[in-house]
Amino acid sequence: SFFLPTELPLKGKKVVITAGPTRERIDPVRYLTNFSSGKMGYALAEAAVKMGAETILVSGPVSLPIPHGVKVEHVESAEQMLQAVLYHYDHADIVVKTAAVADYRPKTIHDQKMKKQAGDATLELERTIDILMTLGQRKTKQLVIGFAAETNNIEVYAKDKLSKKNADYIVANDVTQADSGFGTDTNTVVLIGKENYVQYFDNMTKKQLAIQLFETILSHEKEVQH
Ligand code: CTP
Ligand code: CA
Repeated sequence: SFFLPTELPLKGKKVVITAGPTRERIDPVRYLTNFSSGKMGYALAEAAVKMGAETILVSGPVSLPIPHGVKVEHVESAEQMLQAVLYHYDHADIVVKTAAVADYRPKTIHDQKMKKQAGDATLELERTIDILMTLGQRKTKQLVIGFAAETNNIEVYAKDKLSKKNADYIVANDVTQADSGFGTDTNTVVLIGKENYVQYFDNMTKKQLAIQLFETILSHEKEVQH
């Protein structure tokens, strides 16, 4: 898809997108993370630029090229991602939280490499801050869009996240499908919005889906405002 310069749908808008996994340190040589590749978030950043937005990509550690025209900020932990997003939040029009943020982090980060001992070991964990919920609570003019990775009861869990986090939309995907979710180039999602708005998308490339998600959300926003 491409857009004529005169009809760029996100012209004048500031869009902040988070992508990839976070990395929660245990000691200087170890960390906790997840299988997020960053592909969906990077595709959304590329789409936002093509649609005319000033685009900031807050990225966890991934191995993907930075899309042309995107301003990238590299972060590692959930805490660093939170700080980077909050820094841009007041001036943002749209925030998309594509990142797979770690829910837990080690309670202490050891300064030295932990040495093994005889027998089993346990790792004490504590909750990270929910970035999306923090944004939902501090919302002024922003459109806040979250993602949800689910293995079952997708619509129910996604609706629950929408209301609990005060998001405007949740893009939910079934991460058990082979052609969808973590690491794949394609995705199958359901877009959930307020007042029981539900929109199913066919399986397509993450790049195509990124454009369609923005177009669908923008047109639905126009509808509900008029
Ligand atoms: N999220 C976040 N900060 C966290 C955890 C999640 O901002 N500490 C965001 C993700 O970026 C995503 C949304 O919340 O946009 C949903 O993430 P998901 O892992 O599906 O949901 P959780 O609320 O963490 O619930 P659970 O993992 O228990 O299903
Ligand atoms: Ca989670």
